Amino acid sequence: MKKFLSFGLLIVALATAKAQTAPTWSADVASIIYNKCANCHHAGAIGPFPLMSYQDAFVQAAGIEGSVSDNKMPPWPPDPTFRRYAHERMLSTEEKTKILDWVSNGAPQGDANTAPAPPVFTNAWDIANPSLSVAMPEYFSEAVSDDIYKCFAIPTNLTEDKFIKSIEVIPGNRAVVHHVLIFQDQSGDCLALDAADPNPGYTNYGGAGSSNAKMVGGWAPGARPYSLPNGFGIRLKANSALVLQIHYPSGTAGSIDSTRVNFEFTDGTNVREVYVFPVLNHIQSMITGPLNIPANEVKTFEQEFYVPYKMTVFSVAPHMHLIGRSTKRICCATRQCRYY
Ligand code: HEC
Repeated sequence: MKKFLSFGLLIVALATAKAQTAPTWSADVASIIYNKCANCHHAGAIGPFPLMSYQDAFVQAAGIEGSVSDNKMPPWPPDPTFRRYAHERMLSTEEKTKILDWVSNGAPQGDANTAPAPPVFTNAWDIANPSLSVAMPEYFSEAVSDDIYKCFAIPTNLTEDKFIKSIEVIPGNRAVVHHVLIFQDQSGDCLALDAADPNPGYTNYGGAGSSNAKMVGGWAPGARPYSLPNGFGIRLKANSALVLQIHYPSGTAGSIDSTRVNFEFTDGTNVREVYVFPVLNHIQSMITGPLNIPANEVKTFEQEFYVPYKMTVFSVAPHMHLIGRSTKRICCATRQCRYY
C-alpha cells in the first residue's frame, strides 16, 4: 500500500510538471513578445518582420528559439555579469524558459480568446507638449555605395539658457536613419558650415565639424526617449544651434528623411547640471592612440578619463562605427576609469 501511494504521488508530480512546461501563446508567450519584442518588431519599425500576432510568431518560431537561446534577441550587448544597468533590454530567465519551452512544444496557440491584445503603436509623440521641437529640412539621402554622415544645423532662437530634462528623437525614416547625434553650438560655426553647402546639411564624419559643438545626446535604433530624474538637466545655451548628425547607410540614396527632436525643459529652478562627455573620442588624443587600424590587424585602444570629484553616472553610450567589436570600462580606485 505504501508503495502504491508513492507511485500515485509521483504521477501527480509528473502531471504538474508537464502542465507547467507547456506554455501557450495566449497564456504565457504573447505578453512577453508584446512587451519585449514588438517595440522593434511591428510594421515600420527596425525589426525585419512583425511579431504582432500568433501567426507572426508561429512562422518565426525557429528563429525566435535560436535568437532567444543565444541571447541575440532582444539586442542588449552589455554583459550583465560585468555590470547591471537601469532600463536593461533583457528577458528574465523565466521569460526565456517560457519562450523556449513554447517553441519546443510546437508553439501552441492555446485559447485564442484569452490572448492579450497586441500593443498599439501610434506616431504620437512621447513628449506630448515639448518645450522645444526642432526638425531638419527634408533631405534625400545621397548614400550610394558609401555611408554618409550628414549634419543639419538648426537655430534654437532661445533668449536664455534652458535645462533639458527629456529628449525624444523621432526619425523621419526609420528604414534609413542609423543614428542621430545631437550637438549644441553657440559659436555659429555649424550654421555657417550648413549655409556654405548648397544642399540641406553638410557632410562630416565623427562629430559636428567644429570643436565648439558640444554633445547633448543621441539615438540609435531601439532607443526610447531619454529622461533625467527630477532636479537634473543638461544646459542648452541661449542662442545656440542644435546640430543633428545623422548616419545614412550606403544603398539608401534617394530615400527621404526629416528627423525631429523634441525637448522637455525643467522649470529651471535648483537644477543639478548634467554633462555629456565624449570620454573616448578619437578626435582627442588617446593614451594609446591615434586611432588608426592597419589593414588585417586587430588592435585595442585605451583611454583614461580623470573624474575630479564624486559624481553620479546616469548612462554610458559606447558607439563604434564599422569595425569596433567590444568596449570595457575598468575603474581604478586611485583615479582613472579606463575604456577599452
Ligand atoms: C531594439 C530592437 C529589437 C528588439 C527589442 C527585438 N528585436 Fe529582434 N531584431 C531586431 C533587428 C534590428 C533585427 C535584424 C538583425 C540583423 O539583421 O542582424 C532583428 C532580428 C530578429 C530575428 C531574426 C534572426 C536574426 O538573428 O537575425 C528574430 C528571430 C528576432 N529578431 C526575434 C526577436 C524576439 C523574439 C525579440 C524579443 C524577445 C526581439 N527580436 C526583440 C530588433 C529588435
